[in-house]
Order: sequence, then C-alpha cells, then structure tokens
Amino acid sequence: MSVHEHPAKVYPVHPQLKDSAVVKGLSEYQAMYEKSLADSDAFWADIAQRIDWFSPWHQVSQCDFSKAQVAWFLGAKLNVAHNCIDRHLKDKADQTAIIWEADDPADTRHISYRELHEEVCRAANALKAHGVQHGDRVCIYLPMIPELAYVMLACARIGAVHSIVFAGFSADALKDRILDCEAKVVVTADEGLRGGKAIGLKAITDQALEQTPCVSRLLVVRRTGAEVNMVAGRDCWYHEEVAKQRPTCPAAWVDAEDPLFILYTSGSTGKPKGVLHTSGGYITYASFTHQYVFDYRPGDIYFCAADIGWITGHSYIIYGPLANGATTIMFESTPLYPDAGRYWDVVERHKVNIFYTAPTAIRALAAEGDAFVKKYDRSSLRVMGTVGEPINPEAWGWYHDVVGDGRCAVVDTWWQTETGGIMITPQPGVNDMKPGSATLPFYGIEPVIVDEACNRQEDVEATGLLCMGRAWPGMARTVYGDHQRYVETYFSRVPGYYFTGDGCRRDKDGCYWITGRVDDVLNVSGHRLGTAEIEASINACDWIAESAVVGCHHDIKGTGIFAFVVLNRDNADHKDDFDAVFKTVREQVTADIGKIARPDHILISTGLPKTRSGKIMRRILRNIAKNEYEDMGNISTLADPSVVALLIEGHRKQFNS
Ligand code: WTA
Repeated sequence: MSVHEHPAKVYPVHPQLKDSAVVKGLSEYQAMYEKSLADSDAFWADIAQRIDWFSPWHQVSQCDFSKAQVAWFLGAKLNVAHNCIDRHLKDKADQTAIIWEADDPADTRHISYRELHEEVCRAANALKAHGVQHGDRVCIYLPMIPELAYVMLACARIGAVHSIVFAGFSADALKDRILDCEAKVVVTADEGLRGGKAIGLKAITDQALEQTPCVSRLLVVRRTGAEVNMVAGRDCWYHEEVAKQRPTCPAAWVDAEDPLFILYTSGSTGKPKGVLHTSGGYITYASFTHQYVFDYRPGDIYFCAADIGWITGHSYIIYGPLANGATTIMFESTPLYPDAGRYWDVVERHKVNIFYTAPTAIRALAAEGDAFVKKYDRSSLRVMGTVGEPINPEAWGWYHDVVGDGRCAVVDTWWQTETGGIMITPQPGVNDMKPGSATLPFYGIEPVIVDEACNRQEDVEATGLLCMGRAWPGMARTVYGDHQRYVETYFSRVPGYYFTGDGCRRDKDGCYWITGRVDDVLNVSGHRLGTAEIEASINACDWIAESAVVGCHHDIKGTGIFAFVVLNRDNADHKDDFDAVFKTVREQVTADIGKIARPDHILISTGLPKTRSGKIMRRILRNIAKNEYEDMGNISTLADPSVVALLIEGHRKQFNS
C-alpha cells in the first residue's frame, strides 16, 4: 500500500520524553531550526564547539552548489580519533566504549575507552610500520569484530583514509574498490562468522589481490583460527604486528577538509562511486545528530544493529556515538540467530536504551510473531530508530506497539551515504510521530521540493523531487578521483540544488513522506544497488544476450529484484530450461557483486521493450513485474510494440497461472 492511501495516524510525542529530552517540544525545535537557517555560519560555529579543535578555522563555510564546491571550518585542525577516544580518557577511561556482542550469544566483550585507546594506537603504529602515511588509502574488508573499529580509528589517528568494503561483497567487487582508490594496505580476517556459518574472507581477498598491484601489504586478523594460505612477502598476521607496537601513538592534527574515509555506493549508472567524506564537518555532524536525534544521554547503552560496511555503521556505530563518549554495541551476528529473539535478548542483557535498525529487519522479525519479543525485558528501551527505506505503517506499528510497548519514541530517519548523517527525522520529545513519515528537517537542513521541470514548490503541500537548498557540514565533498561525476550526479539534474535521487511529498504540517528512488537505484533490504551494475553482471553470462532489471514488491526486503533476460540466439533452446538459467544468473551476480544483488525472479523473454533509439522503457517492465498489465501508457514509441503482449503472456504464465 502506498503512503498516500493511508489516513495519517498521529502518535503524540510521549510526555515522559518531552520533559527530559534535549529539545523540549515543537516550539523549542522551531526556534532552533529558524536560527540554524537565519545565520547558518554562526549556528554551525556554535555547534562545532562540541568538537576538540587543535587550531581554529578562519572561515566557517565556503559552499557553492553551482560549482559543487563544499568546505567547512576552513583552516581548522583536529583529529577525529582524538575526539572519539583521547578526550574521554580524563573522566571515562574505565567506561565501556564498545560492547562487542559476538555471533555466539555467550561471547561478549566490554572494551573500555582506555583499552580502545591502546588498541587503536597499536594498530596505528602497525599501519605506519607498513608504510601507511597521511592521505594513503587503507581498504578494510572485515566482519563486525573489534579490530574493524580499531583499524578505522587507527587510520583516522594518522590521517590515512579508510575505505571499508562490506564483508558480503564478492572478490570482484572488492577488487574494483581497491583499484579505484589505489589502496596500499588491505586488512581482512581469516574468516567471518555469522549465524554460525563461516565465510572465507581471506580466500576471497586472495582472489581479489591477484589483480591489484597497488597493494603491498595484507594484514590478516585471526577470527576463527581456520587454516589460511599466507603469501610470503605480502601477508602478515594482525595480532603479531600489533604485538610488536607501542600502545601510544600521537594523534596527527589534520586539516578539517582532509579526507576521513571513502565509502562506495551505487548510483543509477556505471560502477559504484567512492563517496568521499572529510574530517571536521563530518564528525561535527555525526556527533550532533547522534545526540539530538536519539536523545542520547550520558550513561545510555546504545545499539545500532547495522553493519559498519555501510554508512549507518560508520556514522552511528562508531563516529557519532564515540565522539559523544557513549557505550556503543557492535553486533557480529544476524537478527535470526540463534532465533528471532536475538535483538531483544541483547536489549535485555545489556539494558539497551536506544536501538536503531532497518525496516527490513523489523518486517522479518514481525513475521516471526510476538512471542520472541515478549520473552525478553525491554523496559530499558527509550528511543527506537529506523533507516534505509520507507517504513510501511504496519511495520512501524508493530515496532512501536510490540517492541516498544507503546511507550518509546520511534524515529524514522531519512538520510544517505552522501549526506553523512541524518537529515529528516522526528526527535524524541519534539514532534508527534506519523508512521511512514520522516517528519521534519534537522537543524541547518533545508529540504526543497521541485517538480520534473525543476520548479521549486513553494506551497506547504507539495509532491516532487527532494533536493537540498543549502550545504551542511556532514555532506560528501566529492566522488573520489572523479569530481565531474559528483557534479553530474548531485548538482546537474536540478541546478543550484543538491539532488537526492528520492521522490517525496510534503503534507500540510510540513512533514516529509519519502516515496522512494526516482532513478535506477533499487533499495533492497535497505541496501542500495544500481540496476546497471546488476544488468552488467547478468549480461556477462555466456547464455545471455541482454537483460533489464527492475524493482518489484517483496514482503521482507521492501524491494525485490526482477530481471528480464533475453537468451543468445545460440542458446535459445535453454528457454525451456528455466531452472538452469535462473541458477546461472544468480551465480554470476553473486560472483560479480555479492549475494545481496541476486535477482529474486527472472523472466526469460524474446525481447525487451525498446524505443526506436534503443532505450529500454523500464516503466513497462516495472508494471509487468508488479502484475499491472492493464495500464501500459503510451507504447507507440516502441520499436516493436508486440513485445509487450509477449512479456505479459510470459509473466502471467509464470507467476499468475
Ligand atoms: C533510502 C542509508 C525512506 C532513500 C542511510 C535514500 C529512506 C537511500 C530512509 C540512501 C527513510 C534511507 N525513509 N527512505 N527513513 N532512509 N532511505 O546511501 O531512498 O544506503 O536515498 O544510506 O535510502 O541509502 P544509503
């Protein structure tokens, strides 16, 4: 059901939160919001006081969307790792910084700020010993183990740039990402462990490194103790290297605009882009949003169940919470292991106050029934967040009523890899919640809705493309190695604005309802995938001549992947061998990208609906994948309109007979 069909049900702000939250009530929000836009530089200069700076800026911001130029806190120096660790040592050395919740629920580790400091310093010294210098790229291909946090913070400590690759990506995807940023050192583990199953990360990395001459060193963390092949002259054990190092390492004072990390994300065309975030603005924004959006209070136990391989994990497992001196949980397992009660077991055992996850996980757990939730004590919970895709009101209701017992604030946070932090969101204690709406803009954020012709929609009630009217400190600065692509992707479609790629509606109260991507990006279980990437992979199968990928409804994933494939003429006999084609396609995509990008459905067809100039009309394919055969709109511009009837017939036979 689309958000438009729902009469918006409103859940009033919980009064018990209003009295104690960091911002109390809508009028306080409005006053602060107005101030943030009226004198933006003064506002951000004030907010940036929450960060320790080694030397001050000479200018707060220098941003020009027409040139795709963005810089904040110019000339200032700081160190992000110092802000996340060292400055807390004075009064929080013994407080737990990270609770590591391993795959096996019996295996938990508390890492204090003091220990974190030592581990990060040793890792930083080890990186230096292997030639990593300020500005060098380090690729991290690790599962959710403490060493992932150590190495990323070690990079920040010495001014190196990390590029974390989600450990579910394939060797090929890893290779592309290593080559694109010319990483010097790669860090991986012998194996990853999730849901009791081991994943051979070292073997995958070995395969990737066959074609990456830029890499001189591979550090290998021992996670499972499995036997792995160590390449002489290239590979070293992480534990041996850090044991040789001193537990102190000076934090390098870097420029506010020095790169902190690169994170690859999918777009509508070509290969994934290396989104580049810098130091000063990013950490200011991550820390500020973490405190205000989750109403974080000192002493809270905070649990974000994302993977650090994605932006949510960067900003809201590591950088934001640690900058605020929080206790953050790193979760190695899956929500279904050993059973569907795992998250709530973690909440009970660690007395979690703030919990953050994705709608896909909520839907998957709701489908398992309430008993798994009710078995555990969740009375510690106060704020629960969601991120990654629009949340359907049913899932929202279950989260709020069953998991939160109807007394917790639910924050539906809209943002992107490129935005660095949360942009549109309710705040506990501030505004009423509307299931399915991310509600109001965060401080300093100016959402703008434009129509297809780029006209700014001035009325409160409006529908169109979501853009941003001004810069904010946490936004990405460029696409690594390809500034032109940054310009084209974000600043060309709607001149003078940052274009998000999302469609949205603003209601009479000024609340935003995100309706999903308007480009060829799919949001599968909250993971961004480009249809072009998946098609390129499918087309690499020997049997296949061409393909087109669209999104389709999926109960748990939100969006599923539907591939229309046309076989090579030589292999046309395989058209009756559906199982073999399906298997081949899925294996190919798993090898090129990873399991997350495997199509859920394929339809073998004799042709694709193309215009005379050869462009695939995806609108038609999207309708067919949705079972909507009737209203195909104007198909007269197709080179061969008869294709449509054949596709419908094929789809009906396969899915609706
Ligand atoms: C979608 C994840 C609706 C959106 C932090 C965006 C959402 C893309 C929400 C970014 C939300 C994220 N409601 N849609 N609360 N949060 N999205 O880069 O389409 O992995 O453009 O960043 O996810 O995905 P990304």
